[in-house]
Amino acid sequence: PRKIIIDTDPGQDDAVAILLALASPELEVLGITAVAGNVPLTLTAKNARMVCELAERPDIRVFAGCDQPMRRNLVTAEHVHGRTGLDGPTLPDPTMPLQEQHAVDFVIETLRSEAPGAVTLCTLGPLTNVATAFERAPDIIPRVAEIVAMGGAYFEVGNITPSAEFNIYVDPEAADIVFKSGVPLTIMPLDVTHKALVTKPRNDAFRHLGNRTGLVTAQMTDFFERFDLEKYGSDGAPLHDPTVTAYLLEPGLFSGRHINVEVETSSDLTLGMTVADWWRVTDRAPNAMFMGDIDADGFFDLLTRRLARLP
Ligand code: BDR
Ligand code: CA
Repeated sequence: PRKIIIDTDPGQDDAVAILLALASPELEVLGITAVAGNVPLTLTAKNARMVCELAERPDIRVFAGCDQPMRRNLVTAEHVHGRTGLDGPTLPDPTMPLQEQHAVDFVIETLRSEAPGAVTLCTLGPLTNVATAFERAPDIIPRVAEIVAMGGAYFEVGNITPSAEFNIYVDPEAADIVFKSGVPLTIMPLDVTHKALVTKPRNDAFRHLGNRTGLVTAQMTDFFERFDLEKYGSDGAPLHDPTVTAYLLEPGLFSGRHINVEVETSSDLTLGMTVADWWRVTDRAPNAMFMGDIDADGFFDLLTRRLARLP
């Protein structure tokens, strides 16, 4: 199996991304690193463990990482995810322990001890943990196989400001470090995730899987549905983060372009914007596979079939 570290700020959609990974034998989850984002770190570290316990995987190691962006105050998204970050279902408090090691140290230690090119980083939140690890231990950068990240937007512009997507906006300096790191980067921007909509039939498919995971997934996606429906008037809420896991399992579901993508870190107006050279109008070197399209039916088929395997 492919070895991955999931860096995350759960978040209902993060939860589904984690569940998809835990349901997939092709992936070996070396650890889950929590970061502050949708809600503060204490909650994301707790939510990650609740999700592992839902999947009956208390053996997965969960680490708490950075509680603040590198150089800014934390911006959270309770207006989308609810006060707990995982509003919707009623899940029991976790009983599995949080690891004592700091997430950044875990990332550094793991990349140093595993073979070069063996570990893929899957990032589902602000990039603070990963960028901090890169800053502190630059020797690990060439050892990363690939970073697959949910973040950014180009044609779909922003969801937290008119020009920025949440994960990049919360810690633009961290995103800038990661985008300039030279690590092979695959990006799932809003351009992709706004096509991965949990419509009523797709939600029903989760609900009727006959297992607890299916029911909880339906309740979680129902919860943030209410926000996106009001906001975008679309057929259902975008399921952002699971696109990262799905890409690892079935890359053919996605298409995009290998292009230059840079992060705005100084403008007040467009802070955190991912400027993607989609039409290759500059000679700046490509640094990211920036996805633009998804086979949404294929994605939901995969997700639904995999979630059926969980308790
Ligand atoms: C991203 O922001 C968070 O609210 C979601 O979990 C997702 O990672 C979408 O912009
Ligand atoms: Ca997230």
